[in-house]
Amino acid sequence: MLVIKTQHDLVEKLNDFRKKGHSIGLVPTMGALHEGHLSLIRCSLSRDSVTVVSVFVNPTQFNDPEDLKKYPRDPDADQKILEKILRPGDLVFMPDEREVYPEPDKRVFNFGILDKVMEGKFRPGHFNGVAQVVSRLFDMVKPGHAYFGLKDFQQLTIIKAMVHMLDLPIQIISCPVIREPDGLAMSSRNIRLDEKKRKEAPLIYRTLSEAVRLKNNYTVEDLKQWVVDHIEKHSSLRVEYFEIVHTDTLQTVLSWEEPGDKQGCIAVWAGKVRLIDNISFT
Ligand code: PAF
Repeated sequence: MLVIKTQHDLVEKLNDFRKKGHSIGLVPTMGALHEGHLSLIRCSLSRDSVTVVSVFVNPTQFNDPEDLKKYPRDPDADQKILEKILRPGDLVFMPDEREVYPEPDKRVFNFGILDKVMEGKFRPGHFNGVAQVVSRLFDMVKPGHAYFGLKDFQQLTIIKAMVHMLDLPIQIISCPVIREPDGLAMSSRNIRLDEKKRKEAPLIYRTLSEAVRLKNNYTVEDLKQWVVDHIEKHSSLRVEYFEIVHTDTLQTVLSWEEPGDKQGCIAVWAGKVRLIDNISFT
C-alpha cells in the first residue's frame, strides 16, 4: 500500500490507475480503525482492483468542539492495521485539514427532512459537514464504488440522496453492522467507554432485538416508549431518541400497517459517550 498526503499525488496516482483500466473503490473513514472498517475494506478488496482508504477526522461534521477534541486519533496504529489488509497497489489517503479544505466550505446542502430528524435534530449541521467532506473525497477519488456501514443508517441514506442530487456516477455499497460478540455495534467511540458503561452498552442491541420480537404486542408509539423505559430502567444509559422510520424517507412510522421497510434508530448516552445503533423492523 502507498500512503498519500496530498490531493495532487492522489489524483495523479488514480489517473494512472484509471488509464490502466482499474476499478476504484473508496472507503472513507475517520480513523481509529476497527473490525467494522475492515469489513468495508474487505468488501472493496473483493470488488475493486484498487481500494482507497481515506483517514481524515472531518472538523465540519462535529457540532460539538469537545467531541471533535476527544475523537480518538491514532494514525500510526491505523497505518499498521491497513498494512496488513491492503494490497501493494492500494492507497491510504491521510490528508491534513488544509489539503481537504484549502478554504472554508460554505456549501449548504438541502436534504429536506432527511437531515432534520434523529441525528440531524440532535447534531445540527452534522450531515451538512458529512456531505461536504464526502463530496470532496468523491471529487478527488472519483470512485466507481464507495462503501459505507449500515451502522450509520441515516448517514447512508443521506449519502445516497447526495449522489442522486449531484448526479454522480458512483455506486454506494452498504455493508452490514459489525458487532462485538456481546452485540454492541463496533464504533471508534467504544474505546472511550469506562468498564461499567462498556458492560451496560450491549443492552442497547439486546433491547432493539427484543423490541422487534415484541412488535406485534404494541402500537408503534408504545413500543418506542417500551424501548426507552427498558434501557433506562436496567442501566445508567440515557436514551436521546428512539425512532421507527420508513427506510427510504426517514418519515416517522405511525402504524405497523403502513407499507414499506421500517428501521428503528437509536442514540444513547453512555456517560459522556454517545452511541448509535439501528435494527430492521421489516
Ligand atoms: O462515518 C464516518 O466515519 C464519517 O462520517 C465519514 C463518512 C468518514 C465522513 O467523515
